[in-house]
Amino acid sequence: MGETTDKLTELAKRRGFFLQSSGAYGGVAGFYTFGPHGATLKQNIENAWRERFALEEGHQEVDAPTVMPEDVFEASGHLDGFDDMLIECGDCGATHRADHLIEDNTDIEDAEALPLDEVESLVAEHDIVCPDCGASLASRSVEDFNLMFKTNIGPGSSDPGYLRPETAQGIFVEFPLLKEYARGQLPFGVTQVGRAYRNEISPRKSIIRVREFTQAELELFIDPEEDSPDINSVADETLSLYPVTEQNKEDGQVINRTVREAIDEGIIESPWIAYYLGISKQWYQSIGVDMDRFRFRQHLSGERAHYAADCWDAEAYATGDWIELSGFAYRGDYDLRKHDEYSNEEFTIFKQYDEPITVERPTVDPDMSALGPEFGGDAAAIADELERLTEDNPTVFETADDSVTVDIDDVTYDVPLEHVNYSIEEQTESGEHILPHVIEPSFGVDRIVYTVLEHAYREDTVDDEQRSYLALDPQVAPTTVGVFPLMTQDGLDEVASDVAEELRRSGLSVAYDESGAIGRRYRRQDEIGTPFCVTVDYQTLDDDTVTIRERDTTEQVRAPLDDLSTILSNLRDGELRFSEIVNE
Ligand code: GAP
Repeated sequence: MGETTDKLTELAKRRGFFLQSSGAYGGVAGFYTFGPHGATLKQNIENAWRERFALEEGHQEVDAPTVMPEDVFEASGHLDGFDDMLIECGDCGATHRADHLIEDNTDIEDAEALPLDEVESLVAEHDIVCPDCGASLASRSVEDFNLMFKTNIGPGSSDPGYLRPETAQGIFVEFPLLKEYARGQLPFGVTQVGRAYRNEISPRKSIIRVREFTQAELELFIDPEEDSPDINSVADETLSLYPVTEQNKEDGQVINRTVREAIDEGIIESPWIAYYLGISKQWYQSIGVDMDRFRFRQHLSGERAHYAADCWDAEAYATGDWIELSGFAYRGDYDLRKHDEYSNEEFTIFKQYDEPITVERPTVDPDMSALGPEFGGDAAAIADELERLTEDNPTVFETADDSVTVDIDDVTYDVPLEHVNYSIEEQTESGEHILPHVIEPSFGVDRIVYTVLEHAYREDTVDDEQRSYLALDPQVAPTTVGVFPLMTQDGLDEVASDVAEELRRSGLSVAYDESGAIGRRYRRQDEIGTPFCVTVDYQTLDDDTVTIRERDTTEQVRAPLDDLSTILSNLRDGELRFSEIVNE
């Protein structure tokens, strides 16, 4: 995984960013606990996401349960289609993702898109061995493995449920009410930040591929015929794009295009996706993802999820590889259509026409007084089927001689036309029920936390000593300021403790530290990414000023105590640069 990754994983555990959970019982693969600094960093990133993707965009946030009944996933397609390719070692019993083994051992980059039998042949052809014990996997079968965790709702096993594999379903199933809250007006967006669960075959790379993780998702519901985004705010933003056309070339390259160019040249088909790539790039940059290690890659057709018509991923280079941080999918009407079909609720929205229109509608008015005696208990079902036929295939009535044929549960009925009362009627309609389409930016928070940490990891030399530090953006750093007394004597510690208390009361995240040499205290804060440290010294007792030290440059400046909380808040919020105080 690389030297930086190893150092970061060690630092993460030692300084409480993240660690494998249930360690006292040997640990469980794919489950991680965020320690105090990691939990705060994660929360800061989630809040920055909310700020940009919910509040600034004017969307609502929901908080749905993580366990959902089986029916939901039967409708969504996850029960049938949410599989990865499993191969099990015959010798040691270890399980692996067959597509990952192919990618690790051949030049093939996207084995996920290949059919099972081809993957099985490739394992044999390349004589791939079990990474755990070295035994040949050549004769082993490759099977689909469903990634959902199953449970039972209540006692007994009659009511199966699943831990949601994506937060999105918690939004889709509530659409009938969510559309009311949005007063039936498209477009509208609903966000959710919450846990998702996938029983990954081989969790790996610390918090990059885990079995329980946090997603931040936005489901934007649009009328595909009417709605388009206002791209002006991001039109000139340059995106690093790796489209399918480039991936398919031998020497394919990442290409740079502005959002507007990418739309005009047809590189990104949906302007909505282009818009979200634009604001996402700005957001990733604002939280400290290095833009030299960042790109948007389009999914190859075999790689797309079962619901996606087009999809782009935001990827960052970390752990020695390109990692998918978020996906931007055009889900079409797939989800709402499926829930409309499988549930008892309406997942359509009423779209009012500008002017009422007059249309000719085929109708039937089955004569039950005739159908009843002729077909007995089947008459009602026949009448329903006649109405369905009127909507789906009215020509059967127009081409029929004197009876229409109706099939119900493999039984055929000949219904005399005279009892059907088929006619074409003129109707005035003020609108129609449509299924909105969905645009979905979906972010994996754990991977973003990891990337922000790895991209922030730095080493340098300060005062002839080797230093490692995290150059975290002040907006997301777990602690904004460390406060120290130069010495724990002559009242310096009391003043420093009061300063820390006051800064906390003003809403800053503060660490107070009086133990050890001042240099050691700076290093401790540098290592957890605290951007500023304030030191109370003897001059403070004379003139009520303190030093503020900046982490990356280690430069220091004196500032009056009275202005301290304002200065630090402005530094944190990006409204003031440290160099601007130095130069004052
Ligand atoms: N609702 C769409 C959806 O779930 P996805 O691409 O499967 O799309 C979205 O997941 C994001 O969730 C990914 O881009 C990734 O960052 C994160 N993610 C997916 N599986 C993960 C795992 N096993 N561990 C950590 N993060 C994961």
